[in-house]
Amino acid sequence: MHQSHIDVGALVRSRRGHTLGRSGEKPPLSFAIALILTASLVSMAWPNSAYAQQETAGATGWKYDPEYAQDIMETCAACHGRNGQGGKDGEYPRIAGLDERYIARQLRAFKARKRVNIPMYPYATERELPPDDVREISRLLSEIELPTTMPPPDETMSALDRLRAAQAVFQIPRVEGGNVERGAEIYEEECSECHGEGGWGDDDTPQLAGQHTNYLRRQIVNFQSGERVNEDMDGVFESISKQDLEDVFAYLASRDD
Ligand code: HEC
Ligand code: HEC
Repeated sequence: MHQSHIDVGALVRSRRGHTLGRSGEKPPLSFAIALILTASLVSMAWPNSAYAQQETAGATGWKYDPEYAQDIMETCAACHGRNGQGGKDGEYPRIAGLDERYIARQLRAFKARKRVNIPMYPYATERELPPDDVREISRLLSEIELPTTMPPPDETMSALDRLRAAQAVFQIPRVEGGNVERGAEIYEEECSECHGEGGWGDDDTPQLAGQHTNYLRRQIVNFQSGERVNEDMDGVFESISKQDLEDVFAYLASRDD
């Protein structure tokens, strides 16, 4: 699904203390090397993507600038965590590794106030997040891979790198009140057509596996109340009970075990 990935270790190492805006500071050499590697990976992996062509060859002449995207990430990290893993038990969703088009669409919806998000209002404005910044941060986030297990012991890894790798490991805790097997059946029948095999997303429909359970619960309440609107999600929950949903959450939470 994702054509290329940034190593979270490199990502964390390359972060600098800036908020939004370009800076004239010279990046460290390791960052420059990571940048070149990433750039070549991206240019190898992306030509096949219709979206990439449409976005990069568009009238704006936008070209991905990973270093600048890191600057934007500083702002997001304050709530969504330094690796984009989210936090506070799902108050802040995971945004790392989501589909690029999905992220961009949500940011545009926040900016247009079509999707309500009061905490993000000050950041989701034309001034703080102009169209090219939406493209930059969506690309960066989509390429972050959150490992679900510790990497195998590696002699060449420094103690600090190991610590950072350990901090990047991300797993959704089990859902006690749900039945995984039953949830798998309900998911398969009611959700997989759009959200993909196993919950990992399909095209620009978001992954539900690997996302905080409380955040998923809250979004469903929002869809049901009409606060969040999406025509594909219209009526999805009409014939589904609360327990069915808990079973689906239990299944989704087991996907990254
Ligand atoms: C002040 C805290 C805060 C900051 C800063 C912030 N966010 Fe958020 N963000 C949130 C909250 C809270 C939600 C969940 C809103 C909801 O429940 O619908 C959210 C939701 C999102 C979502 C939707 C995820 C999904 O699965 O639909 C995306 C994408 C996102 N944020 C991206 C960003 C980006 C990119 C930045 C940096 C430019 C950023 N956020 C900065 C608090 C924040
Ligand atoms: C017909 C297609 C379709 C079906 C079926 C469907 N969904 Fe969705 N779902 C979507 C789309 C598209 C979105 C993204 C909406 C947007 O862009 O705001 C979404 C979004 C969501 C979100 C919000 C995710 C996030 O990161 O904010 C949740 C939670 C969700 N769906 C749960 C479910 C569950 C559970 C089922 C099965 C019971 C289901 N959906 C069935 C199309 C579908």
